[in-house]
Amino acid sequence: MPNVKIRNLVKKYGDIYALDKINLDINDGELFILLGPSGCGKTTTLFSVAGLIKPDEGEIWFGDHLITSAERNYIERPQDRNIAMVFQDYAIYPHLTVFKNIAFPLQIINLSRDEIKKRVFDTAKSLGIEDLLERKPKQLSGGQRQRVALARAIVREPNVFLMDEPLSNLDAKLRVFARAELKRLHKKLGITIIYVTHDQIEALSMGTTIAILNKGKIEQVGKPDSIYNFPKNLFVAGFIGSPPMNMLDGSLKKDNGNAYLDFGFTEYKLLNELHQINTVKHKEIVLGIRPEDVLMSKEIVNNSVRAIIDIIEPMGREFEIHLDLGKKIIISVMRKIENFRIGDEVYLTFNDKKLHFFDKKTGENIFTSNYND
Ligand SMILES: Nc1ncnc2c1ncn2[C@@H]1O[C@H](COP(=O)(O)OP(=O)(O)OP(=O)(O)O)[C@@H](O)[C@H]1O
Ligand SMILES: [Mg+2]
Repeated sequence: MPNVKIRNLVKKYGDIYALDKINLDINDGELFILLGPSGCGKTTTLFSVAGLIKPDEGEIWFGDHLITSAERNYIERPQDRNIAMVFQDYAIYPHLTVFKNIAFPLQIINLSRDEIKKRVFDTAKSLGIEDLLERKPKQLSGGQRQRVALARAIVREPNVFLMDEPLSNLDAKLRVFARAELKRLHKKLGITIIYVTHDQIEALSMGTTIAILNKGKIEQVGKPDSIYNFPKNLFVAGFIGSPPMNMLDGSLKKDNGNAYLDFGFTEYKLLNELHQINTVKHKEIVLGIRPEDVLMSKEIVNNSVRAIIDIIEPMGREFEIHLDLGKKIIISVMRKIENFRIGDEVYLTFNDKKLHFFDKKTGENIFTSNYND
């Protein structure tokens, strides 16, 4: 199976750049996620790979085989690309049995009856629906129906799978199950999947690589843990993580060999290793701290920020605590809240090993403290 290369892809609708110079390298066997808010260009990217959209600029390659080139005015037909697509409203034919639904794409390519039977059965077995082959779709649960749609896509043994929010019609519980199922299937079959979602949890839990799109541009490409731990800019930092990363505007100051962050209402002393930030170049910054890295204490501790507990939200396994700093509310997540109460005065420290500094003007990451040790 080839890798997919996307080069300088541009797609305009009137004045709007749906895609604005997209470059991506998708390796063979990846479960590659396109993640971003509504309208950022995910479906347009997928449709371009499928051959359903002709871009205004750029090229797409499957390995060393050119499939789309705006410059050369060349576009290979979708049916010649050996791709399979599963979309949000995976339509399976209601009047056909599960067997016939899965067999449908094979009948189009004129395989023998025995070959069709064997491929349908093998595929159904890999998805655990081999006992449902004689049923009609209305006799299936939502998750089973979805597996039929997947089976129908897989049965042709495509080069690349394109999936556009395929789990969004499922209820929350089934989604978690279907996510794991899809991940297992991906591992077992070793197929290349390009998977579109706007759900960051889905992206983090399933993806081998994630590309984050925003307004037709790629903000960051990386493994899930590097996207989470080293967001390249404010957009990625704010988009990934739930509850989102806390953002505090401040000025960097150096005084007597110490570095401080001045938030206006209070100051925070920075560790030695944070001195390497160029305070001349980057003066106005945004400090990003994930909720799990905001630590609370009832006693005054060294280098802490005073806050009042505004709200405590029990989330089942953990608590989300909204903390009022006077001018700003930030959120902490804790497994236990011990004897903390709403209205309590508390002292906050930030996990110095996981601080993110962004330039306020450009939004670019200047420095992320070394979270590894
Ligand atoms: N046929 C079209 N005509 C005009 N504008 C379009 C067309 N298709 C898409 N767009 C615009 O291009 C941009 C990207 O659309 P796209 O469908 O790729 O977004 P998306 O990331 O898939 O969003 P969603 O999560 O809502 O599905 C949007 O601004 C959209 O309004
Ligand atoms: Mg879409």
